This record gives sequence, structure tokens and C-alpha cells, in this order.
Amino acid sequence: MLKKSIISAVSATILAAVAFAIYFSSLTKTEQARWLLSLTMSEGEALFQSSDEAYASPPPLLGWLDARQKESLNGEWSIIIDPMGVGTPGSIFGGYPPLRRNTSGMTLVEYDFERAQRIKVPGDVNTQDPRLFFYRDKFWLYRELSVAPKAGRRQLLHFGAANFTATVFLNGRAVGRHEGGYVPFHFDVTDELREGRNELLVWIDNRLGDQSIPTGRTDWWPYGGLTRDVYLVEVPEARIVNAKLSLAKGRTDQIRFRASAQGIAAGETVRVQIGALNVDETFRLDGAGVAEGALSAQPELWSPENPKLYEVTVSGGGSVLSERIGFRQIETRGTQILLNGEPIKLRGISTHEEPIGREGVAHSANDMRGLLAEAKALGANFVRAAHYPYNRHLARLADEMGLLLWEEIPVYWQIDWDNENTLAIARDQMARLVQRDWNRASVIIWSVANETPNTRERLRFLRRLIEDTRGMDDSRLVSAALLGGSGPDFALIAARLAARGVASADVPDEDRKIFQGVLDEAGYFAPSAGEGYTLSIDDPLGEHTDIIAYNEYFGWYYSVLFSRQLGIDEAVLRPLMLEFMRDLRFTSKYEKPIHISEFGAGAKRGNRSEAGHIWSEDYQLRVYEAQLEMLTASPQVQGLSPWILKDFRAMLRPLAGVQDYYNRKGLIDENGERKAAFYLMRDFYQGEW
Ligand code: GCU
Repeated sequence: MLKKSIISAVSATILAAVAFAIYFSSLTKTEQARWLLSLTMSEGEALFQSSDEAYASPPPLLGWLDARQKESLNGEWSIIIDPMGVGTPGSIFGGYPPLRRNTSGMTLVEYDFERAQRIKVPGDVNTQDPRLFFYRDKFWLYRELSVAPKAGRRQLLHFGAANFTATVFLNGRAVGRHEGGYVPFHFDVTDELREGRNELLVWIDNRLGDQSIPTGRTDWWPYGGLTRDVYLVEVPEARIVNAKLSLAKGRTDQIRFRASAQGIAAGETVRVQIGALNVDETFRLDGAGVAEGALSAQPELWSPENPKLYEVTVSGGGSVLSERIGFRQIETRGTQILLNGEPIKLRGISTHEEPIGREGVAHSANDMRGLLAEAKALGANFVRAAHYPYNRHLARLADEMGLLLWEEIPVYWQIDWDNENTLAIARDQMARLVQRDWNRASVIIWSVANETPNTRERLRFLRRLIEDTRGMDDSRLVSAALLGGSGPDFALIAARLAARGVASADVPDEDRKIFQGVLDEAGYFAPSAGEGYTLSIDDPLGEHTDIIAYNEYFGWYYSVLFSRQLGIDEAVLRPLMLEFMRDLRFTSKYEKPIHISEFGAGAKRGNRSEAGHIWSEDYQLRVYEAQLEMLTASPQVQGLSPWILKDFRAMLRPLAGVQDYYNRKGLIDENGERKAAFYLMRDFYQGEW
């Protein structure tokens, strides 16, 4: 019986095989290929199927980078643009990471990094190939590196930043992924590196979306790529990871020290030397790899006028790290900002991370020196580095040149406040920024946000970032650029504009009637013609920040807003607004310093207009004149950082012949040509305010 059934099973199989062979041979080549493909999955999916590999996240930031032994990986890298994700790991034939080659002449490989286009790293991809100017998607960057790994040393692959999600592969194997641009990260690649030639492949996605930080809507160019220096850093197995030194709170005779170590046994010591201050102390490491304590010293205090830096050496395990560090106190007392115990006004300017005279992202010390030199030429003592962490050269140069800094993470406008991963990205960016720059005396303010809506969810999200920041560093001020003005505020200001409109001889009759209508409605509360207004900035976030930073655009955007609210043409409204601003004051319910973190107006350099038409240097000048008169009459205002030093790239600004995808609020244009308002600000900053 059994024998019979085996025979019939075998014969059935042979029959089926013959039948299939006849069927398969009847297919065309293409049909046969499709059929083969269908073995794994449908053809379409096969091309784009991505491996669901969970990539490792980078370890905490490696500090004191410039004190470490490192090899630069800057230079020419290969680039393959991949908007369809055909190189995605796990897609058909494995995607790009296996870095297969057609050495036999018969292997189907549809990519070749050796023959691909080249771009410069560091640098954004958008301005290195005109086809990529608006590009916001995936691409691959590749280079070879040869190393000779040494026993007892670790090799760390360090990126100054990668915009905006980077997945790193070495010799075809995934090393890890970092999400969120603008901040440094590294991976320990010691075990992946091999003697001699290695292939480094970075898969970058410069898309931003509703859950990213920032979102896809930014009024600055979302430059994508390896936008900062890339290094292979060699460190000892037993090493200092980071260390922070700052004056003890409220003291100028004591420096607090804290170091974190890796691979050094508890009980071992870390040594701190500051020769010029006769400091030479050791501190024991605890079980968590932390050593901390106080140093008695009376350093000459750092300030913009006297940017005094000291050579500090921290050693432990195999590390001996030296950096130049300044020591100063920054604090607030009531509505004043105190630097080294003395009240100071922040004579500032806002910036973006773009060089003067070159397209694209600024990434070198030279780029930053150019920007800071122009801020100095303006007479500024303060720079608001909006809206994201810059390259590390900014703070190092500001330390040397004597400029105070506001550094910020791009929690910008509307964010997905309830999304845990969004919060994780923001927290990671803040942690990496703080831990990179916490020894830079020039940095006095950490900012957690810009112009975010006043909601419960936003307050919860930002309070978390503020707690993190203070937990890492309580020696600086914490801020966020707020929007101010409530509905009632703007209704009362509208009535004041109407009162001026009725009294003005220059207003056409039909507009005068509209203004009169507004006053009639206000009835008993109708303001008199010259009545001013005091606007109180009461955003609840102000309770949790050290200063009240406020972005306002009286004379620019707000004129549009009131023009629409009142149904009056801007040609009539704008002059009335410039006049009203002289009687507008700012205060806050919080007994804290107010810093005007943005005000300004757009102008195309060289565009002059007797009539003061919009987009002319003359109109920009009038707005600045009215702003300065308004702001200096508000005693709680202790700082200004007008928007902005230089015209900058922005996709929101297409106006042909004027903007051409530049935001034109700069005091200088993209080539560094100064506008009339530059000279007004320079004279003002040299004055008594
Ligand atoms: C906003 C915003 C800036 C923007 C500026 C402008 O306040 O903070 O990022 O560029 O206004 O509209 O020019």
C-alpha cells in the first residue's frame, strides 16, 4: 500500500514539474523575470522594500573636540540623489549599503559611487548643484578612508551635524542613525573599521515634516547634507568624555568643575590645571564616572571689553585635554541683566548661519569670523544666533572677539507638541548644544523656542526643555522668543490709530469716515488723538524664563494686520502706525528684563524712494527710527537684536525683482553691501542707550 502511494506522489510531482516547465518556457523573458521577482514580493515593493532594521542611536556628546587627536574627513565626497529610495537598505538587491560592484562584467549593479558626482563636505547639497536648490529628500554621501587602528585606542566617527536624518554605514554595515539636524554626534566605529581601505556611506534625508524639529515650514533655507566638519577622532579606551567649568553662582572666587569619564575605574582621579591661576587640583571619580568639585581661584572676568581666556587642562585615564576658557557671571536682578555684577544692555543683532558673500550654509571659522566682524562693525556686543545651533566655531570665536551669544534650538512656530519623538528630538538637540558650548563664556542665553503658540501643550513641552537645560547648566539665562499682544491689546491700538486718522490732514475723507466709525463705536472709551498705549507681554511661558524675549513687527507686518482689521489701505495706515509707535510702550507683568529679540523691515539694497515706499531702504530706515524711539522709551527693555544682520535665503520669499527667495530684512545684503538702516543702528549703538 505504502509503496503504491509513494509512486503515485512522485509521478504527480514529475507531471507537475513537466507541466510547469512547459508553462514557464511559454512565457516571455520579461514575464519569466516578473515571475521570479514575484517569488520574493510584488515587483514594486521589491524595489523599495526597506529593512525594518532598528538603527543604534549615538552615545552622549563627546566634548572638547578641538583638544582631541582627530583626522579630518572633510573634502570631496561622492553623492547619489535618491528621491525614490531605491538605495534603501533591504530593497531589491539589498539597496546601496552592500556597496556591490560589477567586477565580473556580468553583475547587475545600478549605482557606482566611484563614478558618481562629487560635492564638498562640509557644505549643503542645495547650493552645490543647481538641480538641488529646492531639493528636500534622500541622498547618499560616500567616501573612502584608510586607517591603521591602534590597540588601546577607540576610533570615533564624529559629525558636526547632518541635516536632517543621517544613517551611517561603514563597509556595508549599519553603524547607527541620528535624527534632527544642527547638532554634533558620533559613533564608535573601532570594531567596524578594518586595516587600510574603508568605505563610509551616509544616507541622508533632508526632509522635514509635521513631527520634526523644526517642521517643514521655516523662514530659512533647510540646507541639507553634512553641513559641518566630519572627523575620525582617536581616543584612549580610558578617557574624559566631557567637562564643564564655570564660576560658582554669585561668586567670582570659586570655579565649579564637573567631568564625565568612560573606561576609568571609580576612585581614580581627574586633574584640573589652570596655570595662570595657580590651580592644580584632582577629584575622585564616582561609580557613575563623574568627578566634580570646587576650585578656589580669582580669575580676571571675561567680558566683551576684556575677553580674557585661560588655558585649562583636564586630564584623566589616557586623556590630556586643553581648552581656552573664560569666566564670567551672567544673571538678572529685577528688570536688569547683570554681567559680572554690572547692569548691561544687549546691543545686539540677529543672524542666520549663512556666510557673507557666498551662497549656502556657513561652516568654517572664516565664515563665522566674517559674520561676527560685521556684528562688531555694527557696534554690537550681542548676537542672537537664530534659530538653531550653529557650527562650533561661532562660540569659540565669540569668546575671542568679545561678543555675547544667544544660542537656540529650532522649536519654531507650530510643533507637534504631543508627539514623544518630537520632544525627544528637541531634548537631544538642546542637550548636544549645551554640552558642546557650556564652557564658552560668550554664550549667556540658551533659547528653547521661537514664536510658539500660547497653548497648554506648548507650555508643557517647553517647560520640559527648560528643566533639562537648567539641569545641565544653571550658569546661564534661559529664554524663548515670544509673540505678544492679545486681542484686546490690538483692538485698543486700532482705536488709537483711528483717533490719529481722524485728526490727520493727510487722510482721505472716505478713510476718515471709517476711522470716525471706529471712534463712535468706542463711544466713551474713544481715545484722544495723541493717546499712546502700553502693551504688557504676559505670555505664561514668561514665568519660566529668565528674561522676557519678544518679537514684534510694528511698522512692518502689524501695519498689514491693522489695515485689514480697519479696512484702510496700507498707504494710509503705514504713516499713522509710524507716528503711533512713538507713543507705544512695552512692559510685562513679570518683573524681568525685556529683550526685543526681533523687529525690522524688508528693503532691497539700492532701492531708494523719496515717498518711502515699501521695500526701499528709506522705508526700512523709517521703521528703524520709529522702533528705536519706541523701544528706548520703555525702561524694562534691556536688549535689542533687530531682525536681521544679513539678507538670507528663504523659500517663503519669492517676490521677483525684490526678494528672489531672499528674506530682505537684512541691514546688509547677501554680498555684504550695507543698507541705510545699518548706519542708523551703528550710530545708535555708539550712543548712550
Ligand atoms: C519671524 C521669525 C523669523 C522670520 C521673521 C520674518 O519673527 O521669527 O524666523 O524670518 O519673523 O518674518 O522675517
